[in-house]
Amino acid sequence: MPGLVIVGAQWGDEGKGKVVDLLAEQADLVIRFQGGNNAGHTIVRDGETFKFHLIPSGILYPGKLCAIGNGVVVDPKVLTAEIDDLRRQRIDISGLRISANAHLIMPYHKLLDQEGEAKLGKLQIGTTRRGIGPCYSDKASRLGIRVQDLLDEKILRKKIYAAMEPKRLMLRPYAKEPELDLHTMTEEYRILGHRLEPYIADTAPLAWRVIDEGGLVVFEGAQGTLLDIDHGTYPFVTSSNVVAGSACAGAGVGPSSIDEVWGIAKAYTTRVGAGPFPTELDDALGEAIREAGHEFGTTTGRARRTGWLDLVALRYATRINGLTGLIVTKLDVLTGIDQLNVAVRYRGPEGATFEEFPYHQSILHKAEGEYIPLPGWHDDISGARSPEDLPQNARAYLDYISDFLGVPVVMVGVGPGRDEMIWTGAAERLRPAAA
Ligand code: GDP
Ligand code: IMO
Ligand code: MG
Repeated sequence: MPGLVIVGAQWGDEGKGKVVDLLAEQADLVIRFQGGNNAGHTIVRDGETFKFHLIPSGILYPGKLCAIGNGVVVDPKVLTAEIDDLRRQRIDISGLRISANAHLIMPYHKLLDQEGEAKLGKLQIGTTRRGIGPCYSDKASRLGIRVQDLLDEKILRKKIYAAMEPKRLMLRPYAKEPELDLHTMTEEYRILGHRLEPYIADTAPLAWRVIDEGGLVVFEGAQGTLLDIDHGTYPFVTSSNVVAGSACAGAGVGPSSIDEVWGIAKAYTTRVGAGPFPTELDDALGEAIREAGHEFGTTTGRARRTGWLDLVALRYATRINGLTGLIVTKLDVLTGIDQLNVAVRYRGPEGATFEEFPYHQSILHKAEGEYIPLPGWHDDISGARSPEDLPQNARAYLDYISDFLGVPVVMVGVGPGRDEMIWTGAAERLRPAAA
């Protein structure tokens, strides 16, 4: 299995960090291919919690080759802070590589993100305000500044000037911000570049080499399918392609290098930020799931919206990503709920029903899930290590999902810890020695 893509199949925070950390033990390279520090990936290892925003989730294995691919947008301040934190925790990060072609988040991108949201008022998207959208906009406008530009002060200064000029009007409220001064910014980024220099590399050939030698590359997705800029709930989406197909462009490999695509879904649904959410539970049960699942954002601390599992959206994610395996996380969070609803179609405005995920925003914004009730379970499942250890109703819940989607379940999360995972089917070969 030389190329394995891991993507979020919902609206993000499905548990990608934990899964990639586990799969990384067998991987020869872990590479992120899109997004930036809007992502927040939490890993709990031996009781210690690590939170990554940019660094790939394989970094906890000493010397593991972990690359930030060309498709990622990099805030060098956040990245150097993350490197410092890991060093303080005595984690060996000698395997870190940063693509020279990745684009940089600049101070003005963050201000433009804030300003854009403020201007939208009630219509705001609820971005993480990390400058992600404005950075990808500059990339598409050919006004982006790339990691390699950090290494040449003259080029850096020229590019910053060219990128800032067309933004003068929008940046006027911030004209006096010292961080927007051309010389200050150039100097700050030059110094950051100097710190990152040992890690800057041409990252695509790293993946080619591993694939040629029959090794395993894990492509680590951020966000989730329904936040994809083309296929998600536009405009309430992020600014990159999140879907599995994006792994090729964002890491620099061809589709023939991808063998498996595993999507991660929670056993229920969450979403941070604004936008349609047909199975949302805006009630005491939704609140109880939020508490039980600790559904508060890793990046912004915002409370995540919660709801029932949405199989309409998940079947759409299965098709869009070409999933070959499904990883269901946080099954433990549903323990103790008598009846579990899963949405199998939507009811739209005027009573029409939709078996497929509707492309039309006016329908999607008003769609509500139509549910099949499935019986819950009450026994603690956190100790389960194989499907047979699960109560009958929990197994039936997983079987229902797998049958509906036509995709095998390959891993099941039963708690946040490393060992709290069931490995089955195609995933068993990748199970870490200690798990
Ligand atoms: P990511 O963005 O997809 O990496 O997910 P986050 O790290 O933002 O959010 C997932 C949260 O759920 C983290 O706090 C994980 O520690 C936690 N988590 C992951 N898998 C499980 C699981 O199976 N059960 C429980 N209870 N928590 C989990
Ligand atoms: P991980 O990788 C959940 C959401 C934001 C907002 C929208 C646009 O941890 O799953 P952006 O800052 O990207 O322009 O915000 O996307 N969002 C996420 N939601 N998990 C994430 O990442 C997210 N990254 C962005 O809340 O609604
Ligand atoms: Mg997250």
